[in-house]
Amino acid sequence: MASLSQSQLIAAPSTTFSLCSPRTSSGLTIRPRRSTVHQRVSCASSRGERSSEPDTSRQHDRRDVLLGLGALGAGATFMPARRARADPVATPNVSTCGQADLPPGANVSTCCPPPSNALPVDFAPAASLSSTPLRTRPAAHSVTADYVAKFNAGIAAMKALPASDPRSFAAQAAVHCAYCDGSYSPEGFPGVELQVHNSWLFFPFHRCYLYFFERILGSLVGDPTFAIPFWNWDAPDGMRLPAMYADQSSQLFDPRRDARHAPPKLIDLDYNGTEPRFTDSQQIDHNLRVMYRQMVSLSPTPSLFFGSPYRAGDDPNQGPSPVENIPHGPVHIWCGDPKQPSFEDMGNFYSAGNDPLFYAHHANIDRMWSVWKGLDARRHTDLTDPDWLNASFLFYDETPKLVRIRVRDVLDTGALRYQYQDVPLPWKAARPTVTATATRRADSLVTPAAKAAGGATKKASKFPVTLDEATSVTVRRPVGSKRSKAEKESKVEVLVIDGIEVGRDVAAKFDVFVNAEDHGAVGSGGRELAGSFVNVPHRHAHGGHGKERGIKTTLRLALNEQLEDLKAEGDESVEVILVPRQGKGNVKIGGVRIELMH
Ligand code: C2O
Repeated sequence: MASLSQSQLIAAPSTTFSLCSPRTSSGLTIRPRRSTVHQRVSCASSRGERSSEPDTSRQHDRRDVLLGLGALGAGATFMPARRARADPVATPNVSTCGQADLPPGANVSTCCPPPSNALPVDFAPAASLSSTPLRTRPAAHSVTADYVAKFNAGIAAMKALPASDPRSFAAQAAVHCAYCDGSYSPEGFPGVELQVHNSWLFFPFHRCYLYFFERILGSLVGDPTFAIPFWNWDAPDGMRLPAMYADQSSQLFDPRRDARHAPPKLIDLDYNGTEPRFTDSQQIDHNLRVMYRQMVSLSPTPSLFFGSPYRAGDDPNQGPSPVENIPHGPVHIWCGDPKQPSFEDMGNFYSAGNDPLFYAHHANIDRMWSVWKGLDARRHTDLTDPDWLNASFLFYDETPKLVRIRVRDVLDTGALRYQYQDVPLPWKAARPTVTATATRRADSLVTPAAKAAGGATKKASKFPVTLDEATSVTVRRPVGSKRSKAEKESKVEVLVIDGIEVGRDVAAKFDVFVNAEDHGAVGSGGRELAGSFVNVPHRHAHGGHGKERGIKTTLRLALNEQLEDLKAEGDESVEVILVPRQGKGNVKIGGVRIELMH
């Protein structure tokens, strides 16, 4: 893995990039470069030919290297190359689907879809909006008995189809596994893993997946208006496992769930594998503050909300969006059965689609995309980068034929002919609050008394560090004075934790505190908690990185609102504390810095 010393990290210029790629006057798109550190041409090889030397260039965009080679000839010293064409990630024909890397004791044997004799057709939106019925996805806790009966009949019909039928429940569940556990490579990049998590593909991939699942279900029950429910975990009435999924005689029940979390247990949207000691009202308050933090504080711009760019040829896991980390990850882990070998079903990506609850969880994730756009019509827009808009996936529809659908096809749920039941957003008013006894200013913190009060926290002297205990680091800010609202809007101050490495099959979570005198004293939903990183276990057919075969990724946490609330906008630096919560000792951190980001 990359072993960058702290001095290299500090010396490396901050890369500030926007998802709207700058265009030159000639119309060429210049891609923002991921890293300027130690490019090595030998790392330009595909994954299969990966050099065994320490790879310090893996954050670098591989296609730049490939074009650089073409322009300069093999053996030339690497020079950054301009790329003249866009490279969206595309799913290759399903016949290329390979064996997924399944954990020991896996309850499925393959993740590949049934083969198709025909080539995929391009997705065609509804020809006429007015004559295509609109489906309204209901909140799962509020549905009628008739709805539950119809939904059960649909899932029963799906389960009754043989796995060789792409509409079957088994084949539908496998779709997720294939896209998450290494069965595909992006078209044109054999040997490189195609991964739909931990990047800007997260929201659109899952939207497409649910869209076809819903069409299949509607056709099996003979009702083109039938809509899947969403698990409304962001509002108090929806913060329990919805009753229809908990009924053991139902098609919606899955025995591979954490039995402790059956109703009336309240969900912890910040779950880390340990049962929280909250009262019900504290838990609800905590969940609402978590929702505010993820949807508002951490998601001020499209580039932050959607997650990091991920283009064909890039290493996967460029960086998850705030919502993908939380609540998406903890909800998976909260549902999965800790008594199963790999937290099946919901607690591992290969098996998550086997639980009917998955689709309700993801419907609410998908709803968050729509909700976020509605929070601020001016700033909360979809991305405009062509490599995002043109990324494409393959799905079977209800007929069943193989369809290629692009991200640009799914930006408007109205055009896809579905919407969500309008329900309240109580978290909009739940801005986290400062814990009076827990905040400190970086300027004033070095007194021995303050140190003692901080509890067991080790000071990181150099990176990378293995996160086996709470670890603190002082991080310089790129701005040391208060900025105007307009300045803050145009450039968001972002805490970047990169070179995060997690072993495969490891459920991991760490929390990131800023200016917390005593992180243990931070109250539920406290402002000192900047955010968290969460890994839902999954594997990679192509081997991941190094011996650990884990993922390597980056966490980006917008700081603007937090620094305002902590009254730290005038400080030269902040004190960051990383606290491992789950998977202790299995997470490595490459470095911590603050950047300004569009
Ligand atoms: Cu594709 Cu919730 O995971």
